[in-house]
Amino acid sequence: MQNPIIAALDVPTAELALKLTREVAPAVGAFKIGSELFTSAGPDIVKRVRDTGASVFLDLKFHDIPNTVAKAVASAVRLDVQMLTIHTCGGGEMMRAAEESAQQTALQSGRNAPLVLGVTVLTSHDSNTLDEIGCAANVGHQVERLALLAVQSGLRGLVCSPLEIADLRQLLPEKIQLVTPGIRTGAEKSDDQKRTLTPREAMEAGANWLVIGRPIYAAENPRAAAEKILSSLS
Ligand code: C5P
Repeated sequence: MQNPIIAALDVPTAELALKLTREVAPAVGAFKIGSELFTSAGPDIVKRVRDTGASVFLDLKFHDIPNTVAKAVASAVRLDVQMLTIHTCGGGEMMRAAEESAQQTALQSGRNAPLVLGVTVLTSHDSNTLDEIGCAANVGHQVERLALLAVQSGLRGLVCSPLEIADLRQLLPEKIQLVTPGIRTGAEKSDDQKRTLTPREAMEAGANWLVIGRPIYAAENPRAAAEKILSSLS
């Protein structure tokens, strides 16, 4: 089995990110670089994490006109990331452009295409906030609608909340990769994640990858925390 743990490098500086990377790399499968770190440390942080031999998930959730997203995806492929995110609400044409750009740029660069992951409805939304922006107010229906559109548009993976995994597994082809945040072991302090599963529950429900932030980086011993999570999966 591949190591399914993606440790989120949700720290503000390159120094902190590289320290965490070196510490936990042997116990995880990849690292996630999101808006906070990328905006402070720039594309160079992707190269520096890749230089340690680790895989990188670039979580910048692109959402723009198809041409711009295609070019942003091409830049990410040239940075040699293994996964990246786009917003499915950008529409079918935007998603097709993103996937085609990933495939073509990878071919030109002699690399494997990264997994382009669609983000459906952010877990910070509820029926009121969806209604506020003029979307169908049922979160579950909107997630299913966007997930199906993503697959029809050629995406090979989605980000979803732990509590959506089981339903999406019923709905989508088996080969679709599901990546889930909102993972808690039960040992950490309560925080802003409301709908969580343990690592094992999420894998049993059908997740392929687990994005884990605070349970690793905020632990007293991040390496030991990651190792404990990994051993809970076997
Ligand atoms: O610290 P924690 O384990 O909650 O970190 C989860 C990571 O996954 C964070 O980087 C967060 O931005 C991201 N994420 C999330 N919920 C989503 C999408 C992404 O928690 N719906």
